[in-house]
Amino acid sequence: MKKVIFKILGVLVSLIILFVLFVLISGNKDFEMPVPEAKASADSAVIARGKYLAFGPAHCASCHTPMSRKTEIDKGIEMPLSGGWELHIPPGTFRAPNLTPDMETGIGKFSDGELVRAMRYSVNHRNKLMFPFMPFNEMSDEDVTALISFLRSQEPVKNEIKPTEYSFLGKVLINLGVVKPNPPVSTPPKSVKIDSTVEYGAYLAHKVSNCVGCHTKRDLKTGEFIGEPFAGGMQFPVDDFSEGFTFITPNLTPDPETGLMANWDEQKFIDRFRAGRVYSGSQMPWGSFSRMNELELKALYRYLKTLAPVGNKIVRTAFPPGETVPE
Ligand code: HEC
Ligand code: HEC
Repeated sequence: MKKVIFKILGVLVSLIILFVLFVLISGNKDFEMPVPEAKASADSAVIARGKYLAFGPAHCASCHTPMSRKTEIDKGIEMPLSGGWELHIPPGTFRAPNLTPDMETGIGKFSDGELVRAMRYSVNHRNKLMFPFMPFNEMSDEDVTALISFLRSQEPVKNEIKPTEYSFLGKVLINLGVVKPNPPVSTPPKSVKIDSTVEYGAYLAHKVSNCVGCHTKRDLKTGEFIGEPFAGGMQFPVDDFSEGFTFITPNLTPDPETGLMANWDEQKFIDRFRAGRVYSGSQMPWGSFSRMNELELKALYRYLKTLAPVGNKIVRTAFPPGETVPE
């Protein structure tokens, strides 16, 4: 009997060792995703649109800049996207790279297609998977081109950023295919008409500003969506920028009982965005969003009002250091 148990244990231990070795060896495997056709433009109007997106609705600037300059970014002070944001979470330490055209430490040597692939597939220039921080997979061709054109137009800044490092958990998630490249589900539109319409609001909320990514409950380990879209409840545990606060996103659906904005009119929504952040540690890029134009804010409001109401009571959204956060 003992012998049998020892045999089983032996097999189990070997399997575990094999699994660990498998994860460690293949943990950082390559993902060969197609490099889309793309070409940056030198047209000043295209560059201006890209810059507007990067510092406004698409908020690239809130991550691809040094964290110590968060307040300046919030105020709208423009600076090169030389990287520096760093996030320590269970799957690893994630670092936003230098996006200025420096040859050694920036994007100088990456092709236009590789830049677009990063946005469309979440695979970087070294064919490595990136966690879903940038769900721009279905951003329009026009906006993606505007963004890369703006990136290319910046002054090169030498700033070496260490690559992202995955923990054992991060490697397991990649190996088991829980986190995977995020290709477009449908062909991204060529361009989207900028107007105060529900359609443009939907485009912003899903493809550009990522409202849906934060205002939907997600599994913190894998990033998987587990709640109803826009019904809130996503919890942000204390992290490098939350100043000790834990935040929980509010329900943005028009549910009369539990939807935050059920009683907000369009003007109140616009005024709230113009006012910018209330909590200096909130993960929401309020500064960038406060500079969205009137058409965009109207479009967002109108789109959110068309959502199916979902009952999900979020009692509070901000928990200062030391306070207990409800499950
Ligand atoms: C929430 C934070 C965040 C936002 C917002 C963000 N990025 Fe990133 N970005 C990252 C992180 C983190 C990485 C590195 C990920 C990794 O290495 O796994 C990255 C990587 C990249 C890369 C890959 C570079 C390479 O090495 O191949 C490109 C290109 C990029 N970002 C462009 C953008 C653009 C353009 C925007 C705005 C439209 C943007 N990012 C918005 C966090 C962000
Ligand atoms: C990176 C995560 C993130 C993104 C992206 C994000 N939010 Fe938020 N949002 C939060 C968090 C966290 C809070 C709660 C803390 C606070 O009020 O700042 C919040 C709060 C809010 C509030 C309530 C403000 C109040 O005064 O009570 C509204 C309205 C809102 N978000 C709308 C949006 C819209 C619309 C978008 C897209 C344009 C968006 N959010 C994108 C994280 C995010």
